Amino acid sequence: EQIEKGGYEHFMLKEIFEQPKSIHDTLRGRLLVDEGIIKMAGIWDHLERLNKAERIVIIACGTSWHAGLIGEYLIEEFARIPVEVEYASEFRYRNPIITNKDVVIAISQSGETADTMAAIKLAKEKGAFVYGICNVVDSSISRFTDGGSYTHAGPEIGVASTKAFTSQLTILSLIALKLGKHNGNLSNVEFMRLITELDALPKKVEEVLATTHDLVKEIAKDFVGAQNFLYLGRGYNFPAALEGALKLKEISYIHAEGYPAAEMKHGPIALIDENMPIVIIAPKQGHYDKVVSNVQEIKARKGKIIALVNKGDVQVSNMADYVIEFPETSECFSPIIASVPLQLLAYYIAVYRGANVDQPRNLAKSVTVE
Ligand code: AGP
Repeated sequence: EQIEKGGYEHFMLKEIFEQPKSIHDTLRGRLLVDEGIIKMAGIWDHLERLNKAERIVIIACGTSWHAGLIGEYLIEEFARIPVEVEYASEFRYRNPIITNKDVVIAISQSGETADTMAAIKLAKEKGAFVYGICNVVDSSISRFTDGGSYTHAGPEIGVASTKAFTSQLTILSLIALKLGKHNGNLSNVEFMRLITELDALPKKVEEVLATTHDLVKEIAKDFVGAQNFLYLGRGYNFPAALEGALKLKEISYIHAEGYPAAEMKHGPIALIDENMPIVIIAPKQGHYDKVVSNVQEIKARKGKIIALVNKGDVQVSNMADYVIEFPETSECFSPIIASVPLQLLAYYIAVYRGANVDQPRNLAKSVTVE
């Protein structure tokens, strides 16, 4: 096992550090920047079916569901196809309206999650075309769906999903851009700009690992005794906030909630005092000014602010108690980079609390029961 961990203390840390490679592997052979194309056999065979969908419904559980939420933003923004995202466990039991004009995208790292499998069966019975996004090759879901793409993130052993999540975001980005280019919603210039950004992600993830690892390790020490955490983000980074909170809950057993930053005033603001740590994801793009006002409100209530900002940020950084800088990219790809320091934060807080990081209590890597 020590050999498999490749010198890292835990599989989770190894998998966090593998992300420049796993994202690269997701893109490999698919993103051909010089030729200006995205080549995906899984999509190409069903391009018409996907682009003619009246609606795309994404079904998944846990972290994969968070990826699905970002997938919704990506597909609606670039391909302009309406998307809904559902927990597979809810979908399967509520007699959803699904027809043969719908396309269902099922996302699962393991490809074995019972709720997701049952939801796929239901969608197929109702005539929908089901596209799978799985990591484990030849898994049940990958075999049962009508078409699909593998994320190719490599084996993920840690129960808390890390590299599978960023690879899911990468493949959803490829799909959204491919559909948008094909159906004419995305101009060639914009497509080229975005695929060039996508191509740069493995390097930027490498950079964020190198520049934030030691800092986050230090910051984590101050929160070993925390009992609650709030994670906030807007737009594409709202699901990233949900995912950051889930990581912390799963492995450190600290209660954490993720919220869209603008929802703070509708409830969670009541929780903020000097004992409440608040992680806020605030890249330069995407309603930065609004996030600045959120940070001001938190500051006025003495909440402890851990801000994730782009390099050179001033406004949010000046108010924050802790600042973690990450490289700039288009807003739609920023969760892929911002998630990395959040994974490290959850990891180190859990390690300092003496928790079993790779196998947290009560959790299994693939949930094959209802
Ligand atoms: C992630 O950290 C979790 N352990 C869990 O939420 C997981 O994402 C969920 O059970 C879905 O698993 P899947 O992607 O293998 O279907």
